[in-house]
Amino acid sequence: MQGLPGDEDKHRKIHEHFEHGVPLHKGIETLPRIPLRDCELIVIDSEVPFYIRKRFYELLAAAYREMPYYPIGYDGTVDESQQTLFVLAQADRAVGFALFSLDSGCWRLRWVNEDKVEIIQESPDMDSRWKLGRIWLAKRFRRRGLGRELLLKATELIPVNLEEICIELPLTPDGKSFIRRVFPDMWYGRGDRDAFEGLLESS
Ligand SMILES: CC(C)(COP(=O)(O)OP(=O)(O)OC[C@H]1O[C@@H](n2cnc3c(N)ncnc32)[C@H](O)[C@@H]1OP(=O)(O)O)[C@@H](O)C(=O)NCCC(=O)NCCS
Repeated sequence: MQGLPGDEDKHRKIHEHFEHGVPLHKGIETLPRIPLRDCELIVIDSEVPFYIRKRFYELLAAAYREMPYYPIGYDGTVDESQQTLFVLAQADRAVGFALFSLDSGCWRLRWVNEDKVEIIQESPDMDSRWKLGRIWLAKRFRRRGLGRELLLKATELIPVNLEEICIELPLTPDGKSFIRRVFPDMWYGRGDRDAFEGLLESS
């Protein structure tokens, strides 16, 4: 309830996570860190022990709180989708992430204007392809080119050509502006009919 000291603490913590990122749990400091501008990248893949893989709950929760209608879908499970979480860290905080996994059923798309795309093939590509599930940065770290660099570094490490990845739909408003700049012409998107709502030239 608003006004109770416990609730105020909770709100302060939620706001701090949104603005500055989430404190890293114990155990994570032992993982290798790859320099990325004034931050570092920590790769959470199947090689990382499960007790560490599941310690990103609060980071994912911060992203989910901001975009509750856009599934994040990370649970640390090891399976054929090879879920890999690229965590952007600064000192003892996780300040962002990009979630990748293998998926199929991607559509080849092309921007027709600032806002809309057209589908340029008759059926989806059923080959397995690396997919960017979600990308999120704490507020203070946005619009500094870090999102783009996080994507470039993650694809370099996977490794996969940036142009070959597909993007999980629907896009948030930030996501649309970002993807429009990173992929100015053609790109792959994956989602059901609802996920294309408002994005297709005809809708
Ligand atoms: C989407 C997100 C990860 C982008 O990260 P970022 O570090 O801010 O992006 P960059 O600074 O690398 O942006 C690259 C270019 O994309 C465009 N862009 C990115 N975010 C934009 C926005 N909110 N509005 C307009 N253009 C934007 C700009 O052209 C930018 O270049 P510029 O700043 O030189 O003009 C970040 O805004 C975010 O975390 N948003 C909240 C979560 C979210 O919506 N995720 C997308 C899920 S689909």
